Amino acid sequence: MAVAILLVGGFGTRLMPLTRNTPKPMLTVAGIPVTEHQLMMAKKAGITQIVLATSYLSDVFTPYFGDGSQWGMSIKYAVEKEPLGTGGAIRNAAQLLDTQESVVILNGDVLSSHDLAEQIRQHEAHDADVTLHLTQVEDARAFGCVPTDAEGRVTAFLEKMDNPVTNQINAGCYVFNPRVINTIPLDTVVSVERETFPQLVSNGAKIYGFLENAYWLDIGTPKALLKASTDIVLRTGPGLAMPGSIIDPSAQLTGGSCVGRGASVGAGAHIDGSIIEAGAVIGSQAIITNSFIAAGAVVDKEAKIASSFVTKGEILPIPQ
Ligand code: GDD
Ligand code: MG
Repeated sequence: MAVAILLVGGFGTRLMPLTRNTPKPMLTVAGIPVTEHQLMMAKKAGITQIVLATSYLSDVFTPYFGDGSQWGMSIKYAVEKEPLGTGGAIRNAAQLLDTQESVVILNGDVLSSHDLAEQIRQHEAHDADVTLHLTQVEDARAFGCVPTDAEGRVTAFLEKMDNPVTNQINAGCYVFNPRVINTIPLDTVVSVERETFPQLVSNGAKIYGFLENAYWLDIGTPKALLKASTDIVLRTGPGLAMPGSIIDPSAQLTGGSCVGRGASVGAGAHIDGSIIEAGAVIGSQAIITNSFIAAGAVVDKEAKIASSFVTKGEILPIPQ
Protein backbone atom coordinates (compact mmCIF):
# COMPACT_ATOMS: atom_id res chain seq x y z
CA MET A 1 0.00 0.00 0.00
CA ALA A 2 1.27 3.46 -0.89
CA VAL A 3 2.59 5.78 1.81
CA ALA A 4 2.60 9.60 1.86
CA ILE A 5 4.67 12.66 2.70
CA LEU A 6 2.92 15.98 3.31
CA LEU A 7 5.04 19.08 2.61
CA VAL A 8 4.04 21.45 5.38
CA GLY A 9 7.21 23.46 6.03
CA GLY A 10 6.71 26.62 3.95
CA PHE A 11 6.56 30.12 5.45
CA GLY A 12 3.10 31.03 4.16
CA THR A 13 4.38 34.52 3.36
CA ARG A 14 1.34 35.58 1.32
CA LEU A 15 -0.90 34.82 4.30
CA MET A 16 0.91 36.97 6.86
CA PRO A 17 -0.15 37.93 9.53
CA LEU A 18 -2.33 34.80 9.75
CA THR A 19 0.75 32.62 9.44
CA ARG A 20 2.77 34.39 12.14
CA ASN A 21 1.81 31.80 14.76
CA THR A 22 -0.02 29.23 12.67
CA PRO A 23 1.66 27.40 9.79
CA LYS A 24 -0.39 27.71 6.59
CA PRO A 25 -1.49 24.04 6.53
CA MET A 26 -2.92 24.43 10.07
CA LEU A 27 -5.22 27.30 9.06
CA THR A 28 -8.76 25.98 9.01
CA VAL A 29 -11.03 25.45 6.06
CA ALA A 30 -14.65 24.64 6.95
CA GLY A 31 -13.57 24.28 10.58
CA ILE A 32 -10.67 21.84 10.27
CA PRO A 33 -7.00 22.34 9.33
CA VAL A 34 -6.05 21.99 5.66
CA THR A 35 -3.71 19.14 6.70
CA GLU A 36 -6.64 17.23 8.19
CA HIS A 37 -8.59 17.52 4.92
CA GLN A 38 -5.53 16.05 3.20
CA LEU A 39 -5.20 13.20 5.68
CA MET A 40 -8.79 12.22 5.00
CA MET A 41 -8.23 12.45 1.26
CA ALA A 42 -5.14 10.21 1.53
CA LYS A 43 -7.00 7.75 3.73
CA LYS A 44 -9.78 7.50 1.17
CA ALA A 45 -7.11 6.32 -1.29
CA GLY A 46 -6.07 3.61 1.19
CA ILE A 47 -3.00 5.37 2.64
CA THR A 48 -2.41 4.94 6.37
CA GLN A 49 1.32 5.74 6.77
CA ILE A 50 2.14 9.47 6.63
CA VAL A 51 5.16 11.65 7.33
CA LEU A 52 4.62 15.36 7.92
CA ALA A 53 7.68 17.19 6.52
CA THR A 54 7.77 20.23 8.78
CA SER A 55 10.06 23.18 9.30
CA TYR A 56 8.50 26.60 9.99
CA LEU A 57 6.44 26.45 13.26
CA SER A 58 6.90 22.66 13.35
CA ASP A 59 5.75 22.42 16.98
CA VAL A 60 2.18 23.31 16.08
CA PHE A 61 1.48 20.02 14.27
CA THR A 62 2.37 17.41 16.88
CA PRO A 63 -0.13 18.32 19.62
CA TYR A 64 -2.96 18.31 17.09
CA PHE A 65 -2.17 15.15 15.11
CA GLY A 66 -0.15 13.11 17.65
CA ASP A 67 0.62 9.61 16.37
CA GLY A 68 -2.37 9.77 14.01
CA SER A 69 -4.31 6.98 15.73
CA GLN A 70 -7.34 9.26 16.10
CA TRP A 71 -7.57 9.22 12.28
CA GLY A 72 -6.71 5.50 12.02
CA MET A 73 -3.33 6.44 10.57
CA SER A 74 0.32 6.30 11.59
CA ILE A 75 1.84 9.81 11.50
CA LYS A 76 5.54 10.60 11.89
CA TYR A 77 7.28 13.97 11.84
CA ALA A 78 10.42 14.93 9.94
CA VAL A 79 11.64 18.31 11.18
CA GLU A 80 14.07 20.39 9.09
CA LYS A 81 16.11 22.80 11.21
CA GLU A 82 16.44 25.04 8.18
CA PRO A 83 13.95 24.60 5.32
CA LEU A 84 15.41 22.15 2.78
CA GLY A 85 13.15 23.17 -0.10
CA THR A 86 10.53 20.83 -1.49
CA GLY A 87 13.01 18.25 -2.85
CA GLY A 88 15.26 18.28 0.22
CA ALA A 89 12.17 17.92 2.41
CA ILE A 90 10.99 14.87 0.47
CA ARG A 91 14.41 13.17 0.72
CA ASN A 92 14.67 13.97 4.43
CA ALA A 93 11.15 12.73 5.25
CA ALA A 94 11.51 9.56 3.18
CA GLN A 95 14.13 8.33 5.67
CA LEU A 96 11.27 7.73 8.11
CA LEU A 97 9.49 5.48 5.62
CA ASP A 98 10.80 1.95 5.58
CA THR A 99 9.13 0.88 2.38
CA GLN A 100 9.41 -0.23 -1.20
CA GLU A 101 5.93 1.10 -1.92
CA SER A 102 4.93 4.05 -4.07
CA VAL A 103 5.34 7.34 -2.18
CA VAL A 104 2.65 10.00 -2.57
CA ILE A 105 3.81 13.59 -2.01
CA LEU A 106 1.24 16.28 -1.24
CA ASN A 107 1.85 20.02 -1.22
CA GLY A 108 0.45 21.01 2.15
CA ASP A 109 -1.66 23.92 0.95
CA VAL A 110 -3.80 22.25 -1.69
CA LEU A 111 -7.35 20.98 -1.44
CA SER A 112 -8.14 18.48 -4.14
CA SER A 113 -10.86 15.94 -4.67
CA HIS A 114 -9.17 14.16 -7.57
CA ASP A 115 -9.05 10.36 -7.63
CA LEU A 116 -5.74 9.67 -5.87
CA ALA A 117 -6.27 5.89 -5.86
CA GLU A 118 -6.56 5.99 -9.66
CA GLN A 119 -3.45 8.21 -9.92
CA ILE A 120 -1.48 5.60 -7.93
CA ARG A 121 -2.94 2.76 -10.02
CA GLN A 122 -1.90 4.41 -13.30
CA HIS A 123 1.56 5.21 -11.91
CA GLU A 124 2.11 1.56 -11.04
CA ALA A 125 0.60 0.30 -14.32
CA HIS A 126 3.06 2.54 -16.25
CA ASP A 127 5.93 1.52 -13.96
CA ALA A 128 6.61 5.28 -13.94
CA ASP A 129 9.32 7.14 -12.08
CA VAL A 130 6.93 9.93 -11.11
CA THR A 131 3.26 10.62 -11.89
CA LEU A 132 2.06 14.18 -11.39
CA HIS A 133 -1.53 15.24 -10.85
CA LEU A 134 -2.21 17.98 -13.39
CA THR A 135 -5.11 20.36 -13.59
CA GLN A 136 -6.08 23.22 -15.89
CA VAL A 137 -6.34 26.84 -14.75
CA GLU A 138 -7.13 30.12 -16.46
CA ASP A 139 -3.93 31.85 -15.45
CA ALA A 140 -0.96 29.50 -15.10
CA ARG A 141 1.67 32.11 -14.18
CA ALA A 142 1.72 31.31 -10.44
CA PHE A 143 2.16 27.57 -11.00
CA GLY A 144 4.39 24.93 -12.55
CA CYS A 145 3.52 24.52 -16.25
CA VAL A 146 3.56 20.89 -17.34
CA PRO A 147 3.11 20.09 -21.03
CA THR A 148 2.51 16.44 -21.93
CA ASP A 149 2.60 14.40 -25.18
CA ALA A 150 -0.17 12.27 -26.67
CA GLU A 151 0.66 9.36 -24.32
CA GLY A 152 0.50 11.58 -21.24
CA ARG A 153 4.32 11.68 -20.82
CA VAL A 154 5.59 14.94 -19.33
CA THR A 155 7.76 16.79 -21.86
CA ALA A 156 8.89 19.73 -19.70
CA PHE A 157 8.47 21.19 -16.23
CA LEU A 158 8.51 24.99 -16.21
CA GLU A 159 8.00 26.57 -12.78
CA LYS A 160 6.26 29.97 -12.71
CA MET A 161 6.61 31.39 -16.22
CA ASP A 162 5.59 34.90 -17.32
CA ASN A 163 4.26 33.51 -20.58
CA PRO A 164 2.94 30.03 -19.80
CA VAL A 165 3.22 27.54 -22.68
CA THR A 166 0.11 25.69 -21.48
CA ASN A 167 -2.65 26.17 -18.93
CA GLN A 168 -2.03 22.61 -17.70
CA ILE A 169 -0.31 22.91 -14.33
CA ASN A 170 1.31 20.90 -11.57
CA ALA A 171 -1.47 20.41 -9.01
CA GLY A 172 0.97 19.55 -6.21
CA CYS A 173 0.31 15.81 -5.75
CA TYR A 174 2.98 13.41 -6.98
CA VAL A 175 3.42 9.65 -6.88
CA PHE A 176 7.12 8.75 -6.73
CA ASN A 177 8.86 5.48 -7.24
CA PRO A 178 10.93 5.31 -3.99
CA ARG A 179 14.19 4.70 -5.87
CA VAL A 180 13.81 8.12 -7.54
CA ILE A 181 13.57 9.82 -4.15
CA ASN A 182 16.94 8.27 -3.26
CA THR A 183 18.58 10.17 -6.13
CA ILE A 184 17.82 13.51 -4.38
CA PRO A 185 20.87 14.51 -2.31
CA LEU A 186 20.50 14.27 1.48
CA ASP A 187 20.73 17.34 3.76
CA THR A 188 20.82 19.68 0.76
CA VAL A 189 18.43 22.46 -0.23
CA VAL A 190 16.71 21.20 -3.39
CA SER A 191 13.59 22.40 -5.20
CA VAL A 192 11.68 19.51 -6.71
CA GLU A 193 10.01 21.95 -9.14
CA ARG A 194 13.09 23.89 -10.27
CA GLU A 195 15.71 21.12 -10.07
CA THR A 196 14.49 17.52 -9.68
CA PHE A 197 11.62 17.51 -12.20
CA PRO A 198 13.44 19.40 -15.00
CA GLN A 199 16.51 17.13 -14.53
CA LEU A 200 14.40 13.96 -14.61
CA VAL A 201 12.65 15.12 -17.79
CA SER A 202 15.93 15.96 -19.52
CA ASN A 203 17.38 12.57 -18.47
CA GLY A 204 14.45 10.82 -20.16
CA ALA A 205 12.90 9.50 -16.94
CA LYS A 206 9.36 8.12 -17.15
CA ILE A 207 7.31 11.04 -15.85
CA TYR A 208 3.58 10.85 -16.50
CA GLY A 209 0.81 13.37 -16.04
CA PHE A 210 -2.52 12.40 -14.48
CA LEU A 211 -4.92 15.05 -15.74
CA GLU A 212 -8.08 15.42 -13.71
CA ASN A 213 -10.04 18.64 -13.34
CA ALA A 214 -11.80 17.79 -10.07
CA TYR A 215 -12.35 20.46 -7.38
CA TRP A 216 -8.87 21.90 -6.81
CA LEU A 217 -7.59 24.95 -4.96
CA ASP A 218 -4.22 26.17 -3.69
CA ILE A 219 -5.09 28.03 -0.49
CA GLY A 220 -1.84 30.03 -0.51
CA THR A 221 -3.55 33.43 -0.85
CA PRO A 222 -6.14 34.98 1.49
CA LYS A 223 -8.82 35.07 -1.20
CA ALA A 224 -8.28 31.41 -2.06
CA LEU A 225 -8.35 30.40 1.60
CA LEU A 226 -11.70 32.12 2.12
CA LYS A 227 -13.04 30.67 -1.10
CA ALA A 228 -12.05 27.12 -0.12
CA SER A 229 -13.78 27.40 3.22
CA THR A 230 -16.96 29.06 1.99
CA ASP A 231 -17.24 26.65 -0.99
CA ILE A 232 -17.15 23.64 1.32
CA VAL A 233 -19.54 25.10 3.89
CA LEU A 234 -22.03 26.15 1.19
CA ARG A 235 -22.31 22.50 0.08
CA THR A 236 -24.25 21.82 3.29
CA GLY A 237 -25.79 25.16 4.25
CA PRO A 238 -25.31 28.94 4.59
CA GLY A 239 -23.02 28.67 7.62
CA LEU A 240 -21.28 26.17 9.87
CA ALA A 241 -20.82 26.34 13.64
CA MET A 242 -18.23 23.86 14.89
CA PRO A 243 -18.90 21.84 18.05
CA GLY A 244 -18.05 23.90 21.13
CA SER A 245 -18.78 27.26 19.50
CA ILE A 246 -21.43 29.49 21.06
CA ILE A 247 -23.65 31.34 18.60
CA ASP A 248 -26.38 33.62 19.93
CA PRO A 249 -29.71 32.52 18.40
CA SER A 250 -30.22 36.04 16.98
CA ALA A 251 -26.83 36.01 15.16
CA GLN A 252 -26.67 35.17 11.45
CA LEU A 253 -24.08 33.07 9.60
CA THR A 254 -24.30 33.41 5.82
CA GLY A 255 -22.22 33.05 2.64
CA GLY A 256 -20.50 29.85 3.83
CA SER A 257 -19.10 31.37 7.04
CA CYS A 258 -17.56 29.01 9.55
CA VAL A 259 -17.18 29.55 13.31
CA GLY A 260 -14.45 27.45 14.93
CA ARG A 261 -14.40 25.47 18.17
CA GLY A 262 -14.75 27.55 21.30
CA ALA A 263 -15.45 30.77 19.37
CA SER A 264 -18.45 32.89 20.33
CA VAL A 265 -20.74 35.15 18.32
CA GLY A 266 -22.88 37.70 20.17
CA ALA A 267 -26.51 38.76 19.74
CA GLY A 268 -27.50 40.24 16.40
CA ALA A 269 -24.04 39.81 14.85
CA HIS A 270 -23.89 39.00 11.14
CA ILE A 271 -21.02 36.96 9.72
CA ASP A 272 -20.93 36.68 5.93
CA GLY A 273 -18.38 34.80 3.77
CA SER A 274 -15.85 34.67 6.62
CA ILE A 275 -13.68 32.35 8.69
CA ILE A 276 -13.81 32.76 12.47
CA GLU A 277 -10.98 30.69 13.99
CA ALA A 278 -11.13 28.78 17.28
CA GLY A 279 -11.67 30.80 20.43
CA ALA A 280 -12.33 34.14 18.69
CA VAL A 281 -14.93 36.41 20.29
CA ILE A 282 -17.34 38.40 18.12
CA GLY A 283 -19.25 41.15 19.93
CA SER A 284 -22.98 41.70 19.59
CA GLN A 285 -24.27 43.50 16.46
CA ALA A 286 -20.85 43.24 14.77
CA ILE A 287 -20.96 42.90 10.98
CA ILE A 288 -18.15 40.83 9.46
CA THR A 289 -17.91 40.34 5.72
CA ASN A 290 -15.35 38.37 3.64
CA SER A 291 -12.88 38.46 6.51
CA PHE A 292 -10.63 36.22 8.50
CA ILE A 293 -10.71 36.44 12.31
CA ALA A 294 -7.65 34.68 13.77
CA ALA A 295 -7.67 32.29 16.73
CA GLY A 296 -8.35 34.10 19.99
CA ALA A 297 -8.94 37.54 18.37
CA VAL A 298 -11.66 39.80 19.77
CA VAL A 299 -14.03 41.90 17.61
CA ASP A 300 -15.80 44.72 19.46
CA LYS A 301 -19.56 44.99 19.55
CA GLU A 302 -21.05 46.89 16.61
CA ALA A 303 -17.74 46.74 14.74
CA LYS A 304 -17.95 46.68 10.95
CA ILE A 305 -15.19 44.56 9.42
CA ALA A 306 -14.96 43.99 5.67
CA SER A 307 -12.26 42.20 3.60
CA SER A 308 -9.82 42.25 6.52
CA PHE A 309 -7.58 40.07 8.66
CA VAL A 310 -8.21 40.51 12.35
CA THR A 311 -5.55 39.09 14.69
CA LYS A 312 -5.07 39.59 18.43
CA GLY A 313 -3.41 42.95 17.90
CA GLU A 314 -4.27 44.27 14.45
CA ILE A 315 -6.82 44.77 11.71
CA LEU A 316 -5.33 44.74 8.21
CA PRO A 317 -7.02 44.95 4.83
CA ILE A 318 -6.71 41.74 2.80
CA PRO A 319 -4.49 42.53 -0.22
CA GLN A 320 -6.58 42.41 -3.39
N1 GDD B 1 9.06 20.78 4.61
C1 GDD B 1 9.15 21.78 3.73
N2 GDD B 1 10.36 22.41 3.58
N3 GDD B 1 8.06 22.15 3.03
C2 GDD B 1 8.18 23.17 2.15
C3 GDD B 1 9.39 23.87 1.95
C4 GDD B 1 10.54 23.44 2.72
O1 GDD B 1 11.65 23.99 2.61
N4 GDD B 1 9.19 24.83 1.01
C5 GDD B 1 7.90 24.75 0.64
N5 GDD B 1 7.28 23.74 1.34
C6 GDD B 1 5.89 23.31 1.22
C7 GDD B 1 4.88 24.44 1.44
O2 GDD B 1 4.48 24.45 2.80
C8 GDD B 1 3.74 24.02 0.52
O3 GDD B 1 2.86 23.13 1.17
C9 GDD B 1 4.42 23.25 -0.61
O4 GDD B 1 5.71 22.89 -0.12
C10 GDD B 1 4.56 24.08 -1.90
O5 GDD B 1 5.17 25.31 -1.59
P1 GDD B 1 4.47 26.70 -1.96
O6 GDD B 1 5.34 27.78 -1.43
O7 GDD B 1 3.03 26.70 -1.56
O8 GDD B 1 4.62 26.68 -3.54
P2 GDD B 1 3.70 27.37 -4.64
O9 GDD B 1 2.27 27.37 -4.25
O10 GDD B 1 4.29 28.69 -4.98
O11 GDD B 1 3.91 26.38 -5.90
C11 GDD B 1 3.80 24.97 -5.77
O12 GDD B 1 2.45 24.55 -5.79
C12 GDD B 1 1.75 24.78 -7.04
C13 GDD B 1 0.35 24.16 -6.90
O13 GDD B 1 -0.32 24.72 -5.85
C14 GDD B 1 4.59 24.31 -6.90
O14 GDD B 1 4.65 22.92 -6.62
C15 GDD B 1 3.92 24.58 -8.25
O15 GDD B 1 4.61 23.85 -9.28
C16 GDD B 1 2.47 24.13 -8.22
O16 GDD B 1 1.83 24.45 -9.46
MG1 MG C 1 1.19 26.89 -2.62
